[in-house]
Amino acid sequence: MKIGSIALANPVISAPMAGITDKAFRILAKEAGCGLVCTEMVSDQALLYGNPKTCRILNISGEAYPVSVQIFGSNADYMAKAAEIAESRGADIIDINMGCPMPKIVNNGEGAALMREPERAAGIVRAVVSCVSVPVTVKMRKGWDEKSVNAVELAKQVVDAGAVALTVHGRTRSQFYGGKADWEIIAAVKGAVAVPVIGNGDIWQPADALSMINQTGCDGVMIGRAALGNPWIFKQTLNFLRTGELLPGPTLEDRITMSLRHLSLLIEYKSEQVAVREMRKHAAWYTKGLPGAAKLRDMINKARCKEELQKILNSTLNLSCVG
Ligand SMILES: Cc1cc2nc3c(=O)[nH]c(=O)nc-3n(C[C@H](O)[C@H](O)[C@H](O)COP(=O)(O)O)c2cc1C
Repeated sequence: MKIGSIALANPVISAPMAGITDKAFRILAKEAGCGLVCTEMVSDQALLYGNPKTCRILNISGEAYPVSVQIFGSNADYMAKAAEIAESRGADIIDINMGCPMPKIVNNGEGAALMREPERAAGIVRAVVSCVSVPVTVKMRKGWDEKSVNAVELAKQVVDAGAVALTVHGRTRSQFYGGKADWEIIAAVKGAVAVPVIGNGDIWQPADALSMINQTGCDGVMIGRAALGNPWIFKQTLNFLRTGELLPGPTLEDRITMSLRHLSLLIEYKSEQVAVREMRKHAAWYTKGLPGAAKLRDMINKARCKEELQKILNSTLNLSCVG
């Protein structure tokens, strides 16, 4: 699959997730075999004002090619300038967020609110495309709500404006992350535009990716929540798409080794204090389903330094293997 001039090694893509898909996550996801990673969404204005936290989000140096940087905003000029900054920091692809459902975002006319203003949305794409030389993509939802499903119309408009690939999450903004993703809308968009379409929503197992491709004709698949504490999903999905065979899941040792590596990467790219705090959620995901998981989570949440966290994670190796 190609995104503009960029040929992806494979069409299994890691979804952008705020608070999750930081540098450490992206490194692990890439190593686990996915064809494309994306940053957390970054605000156009924060980029323009050089907000330090945002600058950290934008640190993609040294990462395996290609990395997509996702920006959000509602003003075409600001978005274009933000895209220029992202490109100057090494973005291989600029993705424009038209799917975030959070009130503080949509109340500013950003994220999924752009689905209610297709002209503005297309204007943003046009402005961004004219200012950068890397490919520009759009990630959208099915529509704002069930009464205003307009992914197909919006898709055509943003492609006319220069977007070279689209991701479609088959939920409306009103659904947030609840209910079931509607894959028919992905098929409808695929049938309406000539650029690659990446399907997204409710790929929980490798077989779901194959079903989505078969049902929608999408060119790539994007996996979000199923990758939490589970980077193995990328290789498993890729292998399933290529051979129809399901690779075995991670052993307990694999999970602990991966979580310890995740912790060291977080420490490398953030401070130990931040890493230990942020690792709590990841560690809970890595150890989900283990015997005594609730007690374990409680201990993980109380860990104050890396040594404590490492000790707790290592102690789980004495538990029986869950496969
Ligand atoms: C915690 C969290 C953060 C997210 N942050 C972003 C984001 O920054 N940008 C974006 O386009 N989508 C974001 N999403 C949506 C995902 O990219 C994806 O569209 C959604 O989770 C559906 O895919 P899934 O069913 O595979 O999880 C986020 C989702 C979650 C759960």
